[in-house]
Amino acid sequence: MTKKTVTLIDDSTGREIKLDVLEPTAGPPTIDVRPLYKALGYFTYDPGYVSTASCASTITYMDGEQGVLQYRGYPIEQLAEHSSYLETCYLLYYGRLPTAAELDTFIDTINQHTMVHEALKRFYSGFRRDAHPMAIMMGVVGALSAFYHEHMNIHDPHDREIVAHQLIAKMPTIAAWSYRYAKGLPFMYPRAKLSYAEDFLHMMFANPTAPYTPDPKFAKALDLILILHADHEQNASTSTVRLSGSSEANPFAAVAAGIATLWGPAHGGANEAVIRMLQEINESGKPIEHYVERAKDKNDRFRLMGFGHRVYKTYDPRARIIRKICHDILDSETDGEHQKLLDTAMKLEEIALNDPYFQQRNLYPNVDFYSGVIFVAMGIPLNMFTVLFAMARTIGWISQWNEMMSDEKSRIGRPRQLYVGEATRDYVPISQR
Ligand code: ACO
Repeated sequence: MTKKTVTLIDDSTGREIKLDVLEPTAGPPTIDVRPLYKALGYFTYDPGYVSTASCASTITYMDGEQGVLQYRGYPIEQLAEHSSYLETCYLLYYGRLPTAAELDTFIDTINQHTMVHEALKRFYSGFRRDAHPMAIMMGVVGALSAFYHEHMNIHDPHDREIVAHQLIAKMPTIAAWSYRYAKGLPFMYPRAKLSYAEDFLHMMFANPTAPYTPDPKFAKALDLILILHADHEQNASTSTVRLSGSSEANPFAAVAAGIATLWGPAHGGANEAVIRMLQEINESGKPIEHYVERAKDKNDRFRLMGFGHRVYKTYDPRARIIRKICHDILDSETDGEHQKLLDTAMKLEEIALNDPYFQQRNLYPNVDFYSGVIFVAMGIPLNMFTVLFAMARTIGWISQWNEMMSDEKSRIGRPRQLYVGEATRDYVPISQR
């Protein structure tokens, strides 16, 4: 097969350069612009990375036009139906599905790492009781770097694997404790005989004075939600983890930076914002159309939270799966409040999808639109929603970091810029200004 190239001609000088086209396994071919600056003296300009591949990766593939999401080639729908979160973690990190024996060993290994250093517990008491749990997560995960630094060699695959195991295992403990601290409740230690999702529910809701059995329906739904959020190629938080990791920073610190990025309402913070929006709609007594009109008004900063996506220009495949779980869970729910949230979400979706503004801009519900409704039904407080997202996404962050660190060609991430500031000028002494 002949190698494809594109030719870029500088109209002002007539100079030209042939650029190689890199062929992907799937997705758009990618122009290799690396020689461009040396050959023609130009940078490329792409704020927000709309047309830029920041790296080559073998982990996750998504097609925003067709609504496709695959981890290591496996469609998300098949993983959602047949896999478990820990099996998906194995798949994402190691690149293949484990055998039964490998999965057992992996689960055992994770179970051995679920506890955190006792000294780390004291970090929590330094936070205000009303601190946002994402702020606590960021601080505590960042603090792990103080416990695991000196003896870790990030260039050694075995050491990197231990970091991955530690992060997957400790994240639910750290997450649940951020909630327990805010509530003034005693920290519950992890229990190895429970599944990953069950153990998280246990650390969130159990009480040392009474036995607690996690609701199997909620544990199953949570496990599924964790699978759906496990990775999403080069999104803002993953790119942050890669960029900070590219300076050979401590991986726990790099993941803390990812948590910071995920927190924003334009990214992982949207699931919390969706419920606030649905509650506001329900409490306001105003028709849903009023909010849809506000979302369309360019003079109003209000947007339909949980709608729109940088890559998906069709229904987010994860939203489709979560929408179904919502029904499965709430059908057996007696609490009218949860049902009312779901009803409002569905009506809002219907109105928006039939509105030309949303149709013309290809704005569809994203993963966050329905996940919050399930979390509310589980009794998860609003400010913990993004924490659950961070817990799920940790495997994606650390797999992407490991992929970058394993690549001998990896270099520190160092974007350039289009400078549009003042040209050179002379300093004016303060007395003359
Ligand atoms: N409500 C109303 N209008 C919207 C919305 C929305 N939720 N999303 C996009 N638009 C409009 C924009 O105003 C813009 O209109 P214009 O062309 O007339 O100027 C057009 O649709 C394109 O939107 P952009 O902002 O350019 O899209 P971008 O790719 O930069 O942003 C984003 C994507 C941040 C997700 C955006 O759709 C948004 O803010 N959505 C709401 C927040 C949300 O749900 N975030 C979660 C994303 S999924 C995740 O991170 C897990």
